[in-house]
Amino acid sequence: MATTTTTKPRDSWGSKFGFVMAAAGSAVGLGNIWKFPYTAGESGGGAFVAIYLLFVIFIGFSVMLTEFAIGRKTSVSAVGAFKSTDRRWTFVGVIGVLSGLLIMGFYPVVGGWAVAYIYKIATGLLSTPEAIGDSFGSFISDPVQPLMWMGLYLLFNIFVVIRGVSGGIEKAGKILMPLLFLILVLVAVKGLSLPGAMAGLEFLFQPDFSKVNSSVVLAALGQAFFSLSLGMGCMITYGSYLKRKENLVQTTAMVTAMDTGVAMLAGVAMFPAMFAFSIEPAAGPGLVFVVVPQLFAEMGGVIGLLLALLFFIGLSVAALTSSVSLLEVVVSYLIDEKGMKRPTAVLSASAVMAVLCVFASLSLGGTGPTLFSTGAFDIFDLLTDKIFLAVGGMFVCIFAGWRLNRAELEKEITNDGQIKFPLFGLWYNLVKYVIPFAIAIVAIAGVKAGFDSGKGEIMMIGLGVIGIAALLSKKL
Ligand code: PFF
Repeated sequence: MATTTTTKPRDSWGSKFGFVMAAAGSAVGLGNIWKFPYTAGESGGGAFVAIYLLFVIFIGFSVMLTEFAIGRKTSVSAVGAFKSTDRRWTFVGVIGVLSGLLIMGFYPVVGGWAVAYIYKIATGLLSTPEAIGDSFGSFISDPVQPLMWMGLYLLFNIFVVIRGVSGGIEKAGKILMPLLFLILVLVAVKGLSLPGAMAGLEFLFQPDFSKVNSSVVLAALGQAFFSLSLGMGCMITYGSYLKRKENLVQTTAMVTAMDTGVAMLAGVAMFPAMFAFSIEPAAGPGLVFVVVPQLFAEMGGVIGLLLALLFFIGLSVAALTSSVSLLEVVVSYLIDEKGMKRPTAVLSASAVMAVLCVFASLSLGGTGPTLFSTGAFDIFDLLTDKIFLAVGGMFVCIFAGWRLNRAELEKEITNDGQIKFPLFGLWYNLVKYVIPFAIAIVAIAGVKAGFDSGKGEIMMIGLGVIGIAALLSKKL
């Protein structure tokens, strides 16, 4: 049952500050603090960071503005936004819902680690600094423990999303995002005070373009989309709750700046300490869970303990304000398109996510099915980050540039001419021509390069799934 034409007033954001904080809450998350540092480390540092920043400015900003505009214009969540304009475009929303489900197939696993680390630190993890690295490895490959923490983390999500948009998500974001920022600054200051810290900054900010190949460029593009919550209709859904009078351009600039600022801050917090502790930059997904506790163990005393606790509380909350937005994409689809009640939608979506997370978590211990010798965790990560989000973003741009009307977009973005946006023409041409083309090239080259590392096959399967979704979605 489609309810896209409902006349019920739509729940909307309580205040402008609330919206910006909620959208920034969605953007700032594990992507910035967990994924960005280790991906930068694995991708060679400075050059990756430079390309990532270019993508954020030229692609990320434009796609976010497009998503907000589409969401507010249509006032329905991702699938409905496309479907109500042109049924043939429904598949873009469907890819988004699918991405949401798949990201939520591993995100709560890492969110669970963050919550577990609050407990671990409170119960003495820092007292044996030399064991911190091994302890992480054995924790995530344990078949039971991470699952319990993942379950707890998922329950927090269910609680927030069941309470609805302005009630739950907004309050959580408003209080806890500024706190997280402060803690990160403290961590960065401490890291920079260590001997040998400068080598870390050099690694992060001095580009060595000889390390760049197509895989690195695709990783940077994927990171930009993942970090800014783009390419899967999340910002369309959030924009659909946005009031008419808000300034979309300003909101987009603020969210993009905050998200990128936090990623850079996380890098500055992590790399100097890593180099000081002689941890390999390519240490992988355990980076933040090893470097930060070690940093605070080094600091010692009650202050070290307290800051470590605050850091992981902050990380858990940042993760939560992002994962509720992922859950919300799937939930609002079920509510708007399938006519479900909110609690039923939340519970059914979470049940599927919980099952996916069990596979993801177990795969880190080497248990469960694999595809081309890749486990569930890596498959979900690879497919969403490198394929679904980028391709989704490409279609969002093609939709806006080629299916929507330029004059109407201009009216939407400038609030009927009340807001000045002198760069409208540039934005429009980027969205219509440059971005779709750029994404296509980066994705094709990245998939091709993926065959060298055994990932190409899985990416091709991802593209196949997108094709099937496109064919089936006319029936949805
Ligand atoms: N941007 C989030 C992060 O950086 O952790 C992850 C995310 C949230 C991706 C929402 C996509 C999304 F729609």
